Amino acid sequence: MFKNWFGWIAGICMLSVALMVGYGFAQDDEMVIAHKEVFKRLERAPVVFNHEKHVEVLGDEACAQCHHVYNEEEGKLVYEEGEETGCADCHGLKDEKMNDGSTKPSLMNAYHISCVKCHRKLAKAGKKTGSYTCGECHVKVNWKLINTEGAHTEGE
Ligand code: HEC
Ligand code: HEC
Ligand code: HEC
Ligand code: HEC
Repeated sequence: MFKNWFGWIAGICMLSVALMVGYGFAQDDEMVIAHKEVFKRLERAPVVFNHEKHVEVLGDEACAQCHHVYNEEEGKLVYEEGEETGCADCHGLKDEKMNDGSTKPSLMNAYHISCVKCHRKLAKAGKKTGSYTCGECHVKVNWKLINTEGAHTEGE
């Protein structure tokens, strides 16, 4: 029930923003992450990310493991259901200092910290997980999945 609901809502949301923001779709549940609007010329091949598979594998608390908003009053990150947005809404080209002295990572670092940290943690625990080497996420054939205008093409 929830999964279907999520599928529809997410599908519609993602589809409607896919043309404006930095990702498109490879297959049904796969997002092609390629934020050219932030990075301008991509140094690395786009990353294919299977959102639905992650949600399935990570279970009920999945959303909160990746999505957050910043609570100004408490000065900390919290998860708010229904407030999941793209990372590029808040993370930019550079690291930014927050008022409390902490650092908001750049978009690249935000992805790397989030994706790689979890993959490593699960690998250490001997669980099935995703990759943490550059070439296994930035897979070269993925260049084909985006319109490469403005992006480096392979070998450039
Ligand atoms: C777990 C997956 C993952 C791994 C491992 C990973 N990256 Fe990334 N990286 C991403 C994602 C997702 C983005 C955002 C891509 C985008 O929007 O184009 C990104 C963005 C980048 C960017 C900025 C965008 C660009 O192409 O210029 C660079 C540079 C980069 N990664 C280099 C690396 C290097 C070097 C390594 C290995 C040390 C690495 N990445 C490992 C997922 C990964
Ligand atoms: C493993 C990490 C991960 C998990 C788990 C996850 N998401 Fe996401 N989600 C992402 C990433 C990454 C994006 C794409 C962000 C981008 O490219 O800026 C995204 C995009 C979205 C979007 C589209 C946002 C937009 O406006 O562009 C929605 C809606 C969303 N997720 C909702 C959810 C919900 C609801 C759950 C839990 C059922 C969930 N996500 C679980 C990582 C995750
Ligand atoms: C509504 C704005 C907002 C959105 C959307 C957002 N972030 Fe953040 N994020 C922040 C802020 C602000 C900080 C810095 C918090 C601090 O310094 O206490 C942060 C910090 C982080 C950090 C470092 C702290 C930590 O938890 O390790 C990571 C990693 C991160 N974000 C990843 C992501 C990813 C991945 C996405 C998309 C799935 C995302 N963020 C979406 C605002 C946002
Ligand atoms: C909270 C933990 C967690 C986070 C965060 C996370 N992953 Fe994963 N990832 C997994 C697990 C678990 C698997 C193994 C899924 C399976 O095949 O059963 C996986 C598998 C993968 C795979 C290979 C399987 C596939 O086809 O999807 C890729 C590629 C991947 N992740 C990319 C990413 C990227 C890119 C991000 C950041 C946007 C990310 N992951 C964030 C837990 C995570």
